[in-house]
Amino acid sequence: MSKRILITGAAGFIGSHLAEKLDGLGVIPVGIDNFDDYYDRRYKELNLKHVSDNTQNFKFFEDDISNTETLTKILKDESIDLVVHLAAKAGVRPSFKDPISYMGTNIEGTYYLIEAMKQANLKKLVFASSSSVYGKSKLTPFSELDPLKEMISYYAFTKKSGEDLCRFIHNIYEFDIAILRFFTVYGPRQRPDLAIHKFLKKAINEEEITLFGDGTMARDYTYVSDTVQGIYKACLHVLNNKNIYDTFNLGNSYPVNLKELVEAIEKVTGKTIKKSYQEVPEGDVPITYANIEKSKKVLGYNPEVKLEDGLQRFYNWMIENQIETF
Ligand SMILES: NC(=O)c1ccc[n+]([C@@H]2O[C@H](COP(=O)([O-])OP(=O)(O)OC[C@H]3O[C@@H](n4cnc5c(N)ncnc54)[C@H](O)[C@@H]3O)[C@@H](O)[C@H]2O)c1
Repeated sequence: MSKRILITGAAGFIGSHLAEKLDGLGVIPVGIDNFDDYYDRRYKELNLKHVSDNTQNFKFFEDDISNTETLTKILKDESIDLVVHLAAKAGVRPSFKDPISYMGTNIEGTYYLIEAMKQANLKKLVFASSSSVYGKSKLTPFSELDPLKEMISYYAFTKKSGEDLCRFIHNIYEFDIAILRFFTVYGPRQRPDLAIHKFLKKAINEEEITLFGDGTMARDYTYVSDTVQGIYKACLHVLNNKNIYDTFNLGNSYPVNLKELVEAIEKVTGKTIKKSYQEVPEGDVPITYANIEKSKKVLGYNPEVKLEDGLQRFYNWMIENQIETF
């Protein structure tokens, strides 16, 4: 019998890719999303159109993860075997403007989702966390065993709290859980607030880009198909094991600094980009860099896409879908 997986945040960037991947592997993906207004609904409608065009069995519900009653019904009616919880307010800088709503979605929302799972007697969960929980730690590459004492944003705090909530739920209610720390995921459908999306769009439109700091800030950019491969492998890990609570870094383990990134974008777009410089905003960490040894060993995770190739695919998608006009 095919496994049935509920993806929260399925209309978003990573969730929509995951739905396609699962469907292609014979897993039945069921999605839920409330079209949170953090960014334009048009992007999410486009994401869902791609998913419905490219899947056989995808089913979607427009709803909020805080709606425990409806969620319990969906989990039961759809006979869900596991939940991948991606729905969140994502984004570091905006979390300083509205910390309460971040806590509402990322902590309380996770609580309500887990309540629904308890009521539906479903105890298998994959939780999306973030490299931002490592904060300004200098212990590179970041390991899952690091003490996590260096967070510098409300967003990071809410993700770490989500992890802690999962840990407690595992301890007391015996849920099987994998915590996945994603590292700056990019590729087609990437959120419009993220650097590569903005830079590509501005390069196409021949507009100036703003760089923060002196160009040495570095990110462990991970192509979305690699992240999604890791999520799928984590699903198998949770489905096939009992009494587990495991944390995994899903990065590329190859940090690239801002200057190198912009050069790579110039190469892909064939444009010379005008740049201005500003101070590093509150909450932005100097580097993200994943140690992925545990993910390789336990999950068989293996990131494959090089930055140049990933950027080329992202650029092609932008042009094909005229995203620069959005
Ligand atoms: N993209 C990255 O680089 C990155 C890095 C680290 C962690 N993450 C985490 O991965 C997950 C997915 O990120 P993404 O980049 O795809 O973001 P995204 O914003 O594209 O997707 C999240 C989706 O969740 C939905 N959502 C928000 N609140 C909801 C609610 N209350 N009920 C139902 N749906 C709700 C949104 O409408 C959105 O479609 C998030 O948890 C994010 O924190 C992403």
